[in-house]
Amino acid sequence: MAKVRTARRAEADGVDGSPVLANSLFRRAIRGWAGYTGVGWPAASPDAMTPEAVVDGIVLLKEDHKTVEKLFKQFEKAGEDAHVEKRKIADKVIDELTTHTWIEEKIFYPAAREAAPDTKDHVLESIEEHHVVLWMLSELKDLDAADERFDAKMSVLMENVRHHVEEEEKEWFPEVRKAMGRNRLTELGEQMEAAKNKAPGEPLAVPSAKH
Ligand SMILES: [Fe+2]
Ligand SMILES: [Fe+2]
Repeated sequence: MAKVRTARRAEADGVDGSPVLANSLFRRAIRGWAGYTGVGWPAASPDAMTPEAVVDGIVLLKEDHKTVEKLFKQFEKAGEDAHVEKRKIADKVIDELTTHTWIEEKIFYPAAREAAPDTKDHVLESIEEHHVVLWMLSELKDLDAADERFDAKMSVLMENVRHHVEEEEKEWFPEVRKAMGRNRLTELGEQMEAAKNKAPGEPLAVPSAKH
């Protein structure tokens, strides 16, 4: 499973090579900068590069959100009959969101609740939103891209995910950042980065799908 995921992730860097790939290379570069915390610009110069990756957990999640948003834009730009291209984009969306919801549910959400108990309702609502998204991903996996329901299902999925991301980023992640502080967020970032390769490839294997 890990090998398949690694291959799929490499491929997920871009449908046609473009901004998603550039974004990904930038991310890898900045993670190598010692002192980079995800807040503002790196404290150290690029000369101080170390092999050790430093990544802030909330920055990591927001980067995932950006990757998915880029795929959504590519999907929206694809022609009505571009079934092969749309199938490829949808598969990448399924892969990215399955991994993302999994690391949030396994690592970030429980840690957020513990550090900032007032976020409990937001976390519970987010899990319900994941539930809906994961079932839609599972349906999209088996739906022919030429089926008349395919674009409609992708469109509702995109609406749901955009709404969910906006709530995470604007309504409660800032509260979690304040409660956790830099060291804890870095620790979580490292845990989530490492856990990505262990995420399931199947949307319904993410815990909230079965709740
Ligand atoms: Fe989420
Ligand atoms: Fe998220």
